[in-house]
Amino acid sequence: MADAIKVANVGDIEDEEALIVEADDTGLDKAIAVFRVGEEYFAIDDMCTHAVASLGDGYTDGDIVECPIHAAKFSMQTGEALTLPATKPVCTHQVEVRGDEIWLLPGVPVPGAILS
Ligand code: FES
Repeated sequence: MADAIKVANVGDIEDEEALIVEADDTGLDKAIAVFRVGEEYFAIDDMCTHAVASLGDGYTDGDIVECPIHAAKFSMQTGEALTLPATKPVCTHQVEVRGDEIWLLPGVPVPGAILS
């Protein structure tokens, strides 16, 4: 687990878009994608578990993101791989809204997440 980091202010991330926090900044040696869905925020590993693709560059449908390469779908809430060709979940990370700031807790899984 790494220290909590401020990644954005409320309003910086467009609805159904993601901010990719680069590996150098997460403290975990891996990038994390922070998604906004309405007024909620979800964070998962940016790297797809099937091959090399950025889920932060994927297509969103509510709290589901579709990998831009082979179209596997993942739950942003639990990290579960919902469709093939991915079979392994992605790690989730907690996000907190503190006032008008968005903070990421790298390595702190969301309660109820499917652990990879
Ligand atoms: S790289 Fe994501 S589904 Fe293949």
